[in-house]
This record gives sequence, structure tokens and C-alpha cells, in this order.
Amino acid sequence: MLPPILANLRIPVVASPMFIVSVPDLVIAQCKAGIVGSFPALNAREKDGEPPLLDLWLTRIQEELDRHNQANPDRPAAPFAVNQIVHRSNARLERDIEICHRHRVPIWITSLGARVEVNEAAHDCGGITLHDVINNTFAQKAIQKGADGLIAVAAGAGGHAGQESPFALVQEIRQWFNGPLLLSGAIATGRAVLAAQAMGADLAYIGSPFIATTEANAVPDYKQMIVDSKAADVVYTNLFTGVHGNYLAPSIRNAGMDPEALETADPTKMDFGAAAGKAKAWSQIWGSGQGIGAIKKIQPAGGYIDQLAAEYALARAEICG
Ligand SMILES: Cc1cc2nc3c(=O)[nH]c(=O)nc-3n(C[C@H](O)[C@H](O)[C@H](O)COP(=O)(O)O)c2cc1C
Repeated sequence: MLPPILANLRIPVVASPMFIVSVPDLVIAQCKAGIVGSFPALNAREKDGEPPLLDLWLTRIQEELDRHNQANPDRPAAPFAVNQIVHRSNARLERDIEICHRHRVPIWITSLGARVEVNEAAHDCGGITLHDVINNTFAQKAIQKGADGLIAVAAGAGGHAGQESPFALVQEIRQWFNGPLLLSGAIATGRAVLAAQAMGADLAYIGSPFIATTEANAVPDYKQMIVDSKAADVVYTNLFTGVHGNYLAPSIRNAGMDPEALETADPTKMDFGAAAGKAKAWSQIWGSGQGIGAIKKIQPAGGYIDQLAAEYALARAEICG
């Protein structure tokens, strides 16, 4: 059974957090359109000496969603989520947890490490945690450490993707776990959302299609490259962050490298502290999952979510009768 916070969405979709790309405008649009919106805490980066931007972002998101809910009691906004990178190189983690706890963030998405303290902080303020995993072993560890739900990141996902088939991943996790399970990796249509549910997931977790929305914090060329590209244009490499992820080959070419002949990186060099400061890997080399062949135009997030909802309803009617 889904926890109440995830049970009443317009369609069973959580928009995934994306480094640099996911900002309050996008999160607010996603939530108002009826799906969970999210952003990585590390995207809120203030200049030295300024008050924490994360605090201001959370205040703004909560106020705007409250206003929306007062004006639209018949179609209230979906809840929002904040992503914490639980990696030793994230020097801000403790501070960001304190801020999220103070704002009573309802959904905490954790990646790159499962830690009991983060789950405890979320629970202490009434929130739930969803931990993203690329295999069944990490899934078991995450639940042992107190996560409430899992995000299965299958092959073809944007960002730090896994390599397992979504069927294999969901089948293995569902043998022992009947809590909230999200599935990600190249899901871009309403029909694919229904397919994720048919496979055993409760919700679909969608990232890359939102890069091609007007509210996304991405340069116009990046948005257009999402529209123009397809699965064959996506390259899987660990060169840019030390962890394997999926990137757009044309952006690698534009940066003067040959996407067919990339070197292999040293995983011990992964450093999210430096990444947050320079934002280099993600600003010049553009990440994307394999599902973008379904994305045909840049549009407001609400328009894309309307499209997903219509496709989902049609697929349900056709398949479920
Ligand atoms: C550009 C980009 C940046 C991402 N940054 C993050 C991040 O900061 N934290 C995180 O947990 N996942 C991150 N992801 C992964 C997504 O949360 C999610 O797993 C993925 O987008 C799902 O696959 P899809 O893009 O094929 O829909 C990122 C993905 C992309 C495409």
C-alpha cells in the first residue's frame, strides 16, 4: 500500500531531481499539474556570505503551493520532494538536512548512499524517504537502513543510470519488498507509466523529458538537443563524474571529444563538493536518458504532464478495458 502522501496523485508519476536543471519554477509547475515535483538540495547554491538559498527556495515552494491549494481546493497540488546526495564528498549534507527538517519536507529522495541519520531526520519531521538504487543488493541495504521506499534506476536512465533491465530489477525487488517502489529509466509516455505499474512498480520516476520544458534551468540548445535526439544519441560513460551515467553524444562532440572513444575515469575521483562549485561536468556535457525519442517539442511542464495524463488514460482504457 502506498503511503497517503503518494496515493492521490493525478497520475502515478514522480518527477526526478536533476542537477542544475530542477529549480523552483519547474518543481512548482510539476506539483501544480498533479505529479510530485523535486529538486536536488545542491541546486540551491548561494554566494559566500549569503543566507542559505535552500531555505528561500523551500519557503517559496511551500507558499506558492499553499496559495494554489487555497484557490483550487478541487485540484490541490501534489507534494514536493528534495533530493539529498548522501555521498562523503557532499560537505553540505548536515546543513541541508537541518533546513529540510525545519521546513518539514514531505518526501526525501536519497541517492549515492543510504544513511540511518538521514532517514531518521525525515521521519522525525513527518516525511518519508525514497532511496534510489541500481540493483537488488543496494535495495536491501537501503531498506535495512530505514528507507520507506525504493526507486529502481534501470538501464537507460538519465544521470547516474544502472545497467539492469527494468524487468529484472523490479522482479527481484518485488520478491521481498512490497512497500513503495518507483521505476525509472527512459519512461517518457503515459503508456510507459502504465507499463511500469504492470511490471510491479507503484509509480514512474521521470527525468529527462522535463529538460525540454520552459521552466527547466537548461540553456535553449540543451532543450533543443533533447527534442532532436533519440536513444542512439545517448552514451554511457563514467568519464565525467567517476560514476557511469548517460550523456548526449552531440554535447560531447561539441566539447571537442569523440563520444565513441572516451577514456575510463577513476571512481575514487568522484567529488560532489567540487561538482557543486564548478558544475562543470553537467553544464557543458549534457546528461539524458534514452527515452527522449518520445519528446517532440519544448513546452511548459504542465503541458507535458497533461499529455502524459491523456496517454495514461487512453492506455488504461485500451489495455484494462
Ligand atoms: C541532467 C540530469 C541530472 C541528474 N541529476 C540528478 C541528481 O542530482 N540527483 C539524483 O538523484 N538524480 C539525478 N539524475 C537522475 C534522475 O533523478 C533520474 O534517475 C533519471 O532522470 C530517470 O531517468 P530518465 O531521465 O530516463 O527519466 C539526473 C538526471 C539527469 C538527466
